[in-house]
Amino acid sequence: MRNDGLAINGIRKTFGSFQALQDVNVHIPKGKFTCLLGPSGCGKTTLLRIIAGLEQADTGTVMQDGKDISMLPTAKRNFGIVFQSYALFPNLTVSENIGYGLKGKQPKRQIEERVKEMLELIGLTAIRERFPAQLSGGQQQRVALARAIALSPDILLLDEPLSALDAKVREKLREQLCELQERLGITTVMVTHDQEEALTMADQIVVMDHGQVVQIGTPQEVYDKPKTPFVADFIGAINFFPAGTARWEGAGPNDLLAIRPEHIQIDETQGSADEQREDGISGFVQHVEFRGAFYRVSLQLANELGRHSDMNVTVDISSQTANRYDWSRNKLLHLHLPQERMLHYPAAGAGIVEE
Ligand SMILES: Nc1ncnc2c1ncn2[C@@H]1O[C@H](COP(=O)(O)OP(=O)(O)OP(=O)(O)O)[C@@H](O)[C@H]1O
Ligand SMILES: [Mg+2]
Repeated sequence: MRNDGLAINGIRKTFGSFQALQDVNVHIPKGKFTCLLGPSGCGKTTLLRIIAGLEQADTGTVMQDGKDISMLPTAKRNFGIVFQSYALFPNLTVSENIGYGLKGKQPKRQIEERVKEMLELIGLTAIRERFPAQLSGGQQQRVALARAIALSPDILLLDEPLSALDAKVREKLREQLCELQERLGITTVMVTHDQEEALTMADQIVVMDHGQVVQIGTPQEVYDKPKTPFVADFIGAINFFPAGTARWEGAGPNDLLAIRPEHIQIDETQGSADEQREDGISGFVQHVEFRGAFYRVSLQLANELGRHSDMNVTVDISSQTANRYDWSRNKLLHLHLPQERMLHYPAAGAGIVEE
């Protein structure tokens, strides 16, 4: 185990009889951007609050650079914290909000300098004299970030800081936040239930479900090699097949096979259903959805008799090549499932089988 950054060891937390966190072990690397990702209620905020010292774990420790900080009060942790609700002081201007945490800790001139620097950093110099009620949600969130960063915290803890914003502002702020994090090299932990946010922003993603960590990895790792069907389904789109549907050597009859829609290829040598290739399946076009860069096509799988089965498959086709195919409803298409892109989960759902 590396010593730098944050080490979260064996954390358990119960609320009454409800177990919110069960034996959570995570290493948060120094200077990197880590996302805690998982569905609502899986324990993300609870874990973040324990890291912040706002909540006490039942058992387990939080170590910072090799030092046990589990008992250290929040005020002594030098962490910058930003929650979903911006919680700015309504009676203070933007500048005053940003400088608030520095008051009494630094001489007035130095605080003014720091606030000026922060305003430039987040691009809000022009509206420094406004009050929170006179700001948009995106602007308020930037002020909240600046206020947290102004204290030069060792670690930045963010709980869904972008979720209240509209899609366009959110995307812009995502970029700004990533750029800021990289420039300042500040160790950051951000909670989100938005998989796209995690994939685009994180150096490391911690996927959680029901109070447990299910997988830790880079965005590419959790997307390309999801450890369980839950992770595969939660991050990105995926097709699941019982092993009998798509051939796979060594797969038991109750195993689950999975493949992402963009990895399925349309077999150009079209023919009747019984001519389908060994490693392929066939399906009848049901629905075509334009998504801009690609088309998402739903097909109903053909059974051995070449008739409609009750199973569906989703295929993503790049918009550049989509006009090569005939998408009329009930048109039969042969699909090629590249073996190297197939994920194989044993029947118990225990985890991915390594090739
Ligand atoms: N103070 C509390 N008392 C009782 N139960 C709590 C308390 N705080 C959280 N819980 C429960 O613990 C579980 C985890 O809550 P938590 O807020 O960590 O979830 P989350 O992953 O942040 O969800 P969301 O994405 O909805 O914010 C939930 O079932 C929640 O109801
Ligand atoms: Mg939460």
